[in-house]
Amino acid sequence: MSSRYTATYDSWKRDPEGFWADAAQAIDWVRPWEKVFDSDLGVYGRWFPGALCNTCYNALDRHVENGRGDQPAIIYDSPITGSKRKLTYREILAEVQAFAAIMLDNGVKTGDRVIIYMPMVPEAAIAMLACARIGAIHSVVFGGFAANELASRIDDAAPVMIIAASCGLEPGRVIAYKPMLDKAIDMAGHKVSRCIVLERPQLAYAPVEGRDIDYASAVAAARGRTVPCAPVAATDPLYVLYTSGTTGQPKGVVRDNGGHMVALAWSMGAVFDIGPGDVFWAASDVGWVVGHSYIVYGPLLVGATSILFEGKPVGTPDPGTFWRIIDEHDVKTMFTAPTAFRAIKKDDPGGEYVKRHDLSRFRCLFLAGERADPDTIKWAEEKLSVPVIDHWWQTESGWPMVANPVGLGILPVKYGSPTKTLPGYEIHVVDDAGHQVKRGDLGNIVVKLPLAPGCLPTLWNADQRFRDAYLAEFPGYYKTADAGYMDEDGYLYIMSRTDDIINVAGHRLSTGAMEEIISGHPDVAECAVIGIADALKGQVPCGFLVLNSGVTRNACDIEADCIARVREEIGAVAAFKLALAVKRLPKTRSGKILRGTMQKIADGEQWNMPATIDDPAILAEIAEALKLRGIGG
Ligand code: COA
Ligand code: AMP
Repeated sequence: MSSRYTATYDSWKRDPEGFWADAAQAIDWVRPWEKVFDSDLGVYGRWFPGALCNTCYNALDRHVENGRGDQPAIIYDSPITGSKRKLTYREILAEVQAFAAIMLDNGVKTGDRVIIYMPMVPEAAIAMLACARIGAIHSVVFGGFAANELASRIDDAAPVMIIAASCGLEPGRVIAYKPMLDKAIDMAGHKVSRCIVLERPQLAYAPVEGRDIDYASAVAAARGRTVPCAPVAATDPLYVLYTSGTTGQPKGVVRDNGGHMVALAWSMGAVFDIGPGDVFWAASDVGWVVGHSYIVYGPLLVGATSILFEGKPVGTPDPGTFWRIIDEHDVKTMFTAPTAFRAIKKDDPGGEYVKRHDLSRFRCLFLAGERADPDTIKWAEEKLSVPVIDHWWQTESGWPMVANPVGLGILPVKYGSPTKTLPGYEIHVVDDAGHQVKRGDLGNIVVKLPLAPGCLPTLWNADQRFRDAYLAEFPGYYKTADAGYMDEDGYLYIMSRTDDIINVAGHRLSTGAMEEIISGHPDVAECAVIGIADALKGQVPCGFLVLNSGVTRNACDIEADCIARVREEIGAVAAFKLALAVKRLPKTRSGKILRGTMQKIADGEQWNMPATIDDPAILAEIAEALKLRGIGG
């Protein structure tokens, strides 16, 4: 069957507003929009102004009203704790209402921010949906982030309440969240007076008198209460999700209610080929955008069943966990990051664990979050006998910008490319002056304004930062900060970032933020952190430290201090384990550190001596320091 992709993209191109007005029929509105798009509103325009809606109603209530109440909405499968739980649409709606009642009782109002700092437990999704129900704006903070990162988000979002759990679980260890929560609240300038804490069986917590409410007892008391869905403007924020910026200060990506629902519902069908009753599994974390869009909101908006997985691709207990879940829960389509497959391939290269399960109902695997290397894709295709689809997007877009749209009919796969631009987006590849480059030539990947529904309209309380960071460099376009090229057939290839962001095991991290932390060490004069190639995680950070003259402490101790500092301030997720004390850093004559050349040396790639280098001998010193650690050529 030929793909409907071209006809669909062309129909969007001819009439973008008509296209999204049609897609919006998939959503139940309290009041329809006055305009599909108004270019005079906000920074670059707003979608569906005038409309009133509620995201929780569309994700839960209407499915119960339409007879889907007994279908599982969320299947929690936690190999790490050995527990499983199925929550039907009816059950989750009741839990969400009870939780919404507790929030209302504690003074949370429409438009208030609520931070959610929780591991992969159903209560995280319940808290998100309860916020959506009452029109509060949630901001989920990934559990792998330490107190400092949580504190910076508290100060930016100024929440009235934080919902947390006593702990998260990593293989072989319990991560106590509560001490990190208490520390973050102490550190933050903005004061939070109410926390609701879920005590997990693995770890008790010490409540702070007058501030902390116990999740289980509060919900037990509120069970059976009903809370109506608050009608909010389509343009009101549903959530703020912080993502790494080019400095230590994270950016609060704002997501609205209306455009977000329309875009996600459209993508579930057209991209992922998922509809009512299908089982969809995004093996990510609710702390990331993938978790927001494709664990919680996307599948529920279309009446599908979503898997909420607390575990790892390997080691919980073995590299067959993914196949066990697909088999046991009838997963039709799965989404994860390539790094998960690299981990499985490493532990089970022959795919022996795959053979132990019945994957005959499994239809498709989607990969995103980092470059999907052709070897990994081919391995997955061969072992799973399903199409393996690379697709490309960002926290900012909230849903895929480039993909092979399986629901419209699959396009030929080209390894190394996430395929073609989706309706809603017009993507150009431009040089630094903003001129379009020839097909096949490398350049900056930019998106013509306006962005599609569902994409960020701005940054939280920071319109000017939004303009400066994304819109100023290429007027009329949104800068993705990815570089790549488009081939003659319109297939896009993503090659690298143009800023200091690195991608570690599918996690987006700022090397600038790590440099800020290391520079704070009293013995460090200056430093540079780069991302170097890693067979499992794609990239890992590597720090180069120049010590102050006169420092008498052992360099190894200072390296260890810096590693500990990054772990303490950003969190274990930074995976910062390589710090090298060097005599000096290579720079241009104008003083810019030559990070790109250092990276090429570390990755064992061909490199040329930069014409503007101040002292060529320094690159040899860097190569030597890396070689001593077994890195580079
Ligand atoms: N809470 C606390 N700590 C966490 C955490 C969480 N939610 N998630 C990760 N960490 C810790 C890990 O335990 C690890 O700690 P360690 O340095 O003490 O070992 C550290 O952060 C780095 O984690 P990670 O980069 O994930 O490496 P890993 O070795 O634990 O696992 C993979 C490697 C490939 C198995 C893992 O990265 C994975 O499953 N990736 C899937 C991709 C994914 O989910 N991407 C999200 C975007 S789609
Ligand atoms: P995040 O905002 O955490 O989702 O990270 C977004 C960034 O991850 C993008 O800007 C890319 O740099 C990278 N990325 C996401 N998907 C892909 C992909 N399919 N191929 C290559 N890089 C990707």
